[in-house]
Amino acid sequence: MKTYHFKIPPKTTALLKKIGKLADERGEAAYAVGGFVRDLFLRHPGVDIDITVEGDGVTFAEKLARLTGSEVEAFTRFGTSIVIVPGFGKVDVATARTESYQSPGALPAVKKSGIMQDLYRRDFTINSMALSLSPGYFLKLLDPFEGLEDLKKGRIRALHAKSFMDDPTRIFRAVRFEQRFQERIEEKTQRWLLEAVRGNYIQRVSGERLRNELRLIFQEPHPERAVWRLDELGVLPHIHSSLGVSASAKMALPHIAGAIGFFKKNRMVLEEEKMVWFQALLLKMDEKGAAALSKRLMLSRAEQKIVSQSSKAAPALPRQLAGKDIPASRMYRLLCSLRPEVQCFLMAAAAPDLRKKLAVYFVKLQKIKPWIRGGDLQTLGIPPGFRYSFILLEALNGQLDGKFKTRQQALDWVKNSFAS
Ligand code: CTP
Repeated sequence: MKTYHFKIPPKTTALLKKIGKLADERGEAAYAVGGFVRDLFLRHPGVDIDITVEGDGVTFAEKLARLTGSEVEAFTRFGTSIVIVPGFGKVDVATARTESYQSPGALPAVKKSGIMQDLYRRDFTINSMALSLSPGYFLKLLDPFEGLEDLKKGRIRALHAKSFMDDPTRIFRAVRFEQRFQERIEEKTQRWLLEAVRGNYIQRVSGERLRNELRLIFQEPHPERAVWRLDELGVLPHIHSSLGVSASAKMALPHIAGAIGFFKKNRMVLEEEKMVWFQALLLKMDEKGAAALSKRLMLSRAEQKIVSQSSKAAPALPRQLAGKDIPASRMYRLLCSLRPEVQCFLMAAAAPDLRKKLAVYFVKLQKIKPWIRGGDLQTLGIPPGFRYSFILLEALNGQLDGKFKTRQQALDWVKNSFAS
């Protein structure tokens, strides 16, 4: 076993040593594992530490929390705990375990094991390395599947032929890691992945887990690459038959990051930023399909609203907004009730001329404060009633289209047209 020297902040080294010593005192052994080890070799050490304990992870986490004055949260079904170490961050503590899958796509049944079996249950070789934390073996590498070699060669390699069938969420993870690290899914692994895709294993995954995988993809620095790859591998129609990357989506994808940046720069809040990306997959979908997809992915109310608005607006609006001289009031009417995430996607999907027009609309026109309000109508002695909404809308239209240059002009128009 080789010992490695990493550039780790001293407080991380101190914490890792503390973890190793505590395990040793309890007659157990602790290892740093998974993404934490992978990212150390990539020289991008993550903030969160993944620990696996050969022994009782839950009790170990409690002791570690006491030793470091931390909070702890335990999920006993899988023997995992999260320790929040003050001034440091999250330490995930798991019990070394084997997993067996009763049915594909379901969560596995787990049994305590040694570290080697624990590494064998994992997804890819690059995530199946462990660093010993035991005193005397500190930072010695266990790498039974030559993950370090794959990491150097830029290869995503699964450990066995049934990996994607056991856990089809790994299909999405393979694509996510491939694009994140600019690596390549190894040939045999890609064959196994395609077998799971074509065998319809994705259909057996719960909506919640699928939604989570998509969310993680949309949080990557370049989601468009992963979306392209999911399309190329034929994954998307297995989530819903109309989900896919249409010709229009191919045009929109390269502009989404820019549109999101534009919205942020102009302080237009995108509460569900990931949903701007998601809409690129919906362009082939009708409203009925959108509703079925929302149900399949167990989307939240806000997410459902975005999917439903986008499936109605995205195909028709670019046509309705086309033409040189579309009045600002018409743009307002078509766009103002849409959620910002849908507006942002429309901007990405628009042809360059329309994109420029939308930029002006979002920054200037949409933020206009109406000159005339209900109180003004009351002051002018106009009796309250259904006429109010008509007058206010017409006054706003006149303001947006430049028919009124000042508030006074708008007021005069109301007075002359409606006050008796
Ligand atoms: N893992 C797995 N199969 C999965 C999910 C996770 O084998 N479907 C294993 C991998 O060894 C992974 C570890 O559990 O490294 C931790 O999972 P997670 O935190 O989801 O991923 P990370 O590898 O840490 O990646 P990220 O940087 O995206 O958090």
